[in-house]
Amino acid sequence: MLSNNQLYNAAKQASRNAYSPYSEFKVGAAVLTKSGSVYTGCNVENASYSNTICAERVALVKAISEGDKSIYSIAIYTEDADLSPCGICRQFIREFGSEIKVIYLSSGEIIAKAISELLPDSFSKDNLY
Ligand code: THU
Repeated sequence: MLSNNQLYNAAKQASRNAYSPYSEFKVGAAVLTKSGSVYTGCNVENASYSNTICAERVALVKAISEGDKSIYSIAIYTEDADLSPCGICRQFIREFGSEIKVIYLSSGEIIAKAISELLPDSFSKDNLY
């Protein structure tokens, strides 16, 4: 099982592949599943700006589409800056569990918080069925 720092490092490697010619903001993400597999992603922008997809969702979609739905944690990286997931990505992470650990840089330190803390009182399938 990778440590938080190792997963953060995998997110850093993934940020190299960012396709962000419009914002020039490179983001990487790495998902660790309960089976121990790692899936990475980067942000992919589009000339029609709102078509952009964040690194977190790319990494999650890679895991889910490989049939690996037991998400344990996700790390997010951008160079030289604090970064926590945007609102859409928080909801997307929450879909796969309220206790998923989100690993990111806050005040220059790598920290981990449960998605339930980043998205309290969330809407989820638990409310629907
Ligand atoms: N972005 C991410 O990939 N993840 C985040 O958590 C925040 C924002 C991307 C989207 C866009 O390509 C660029 O960063 C600037 O918003």
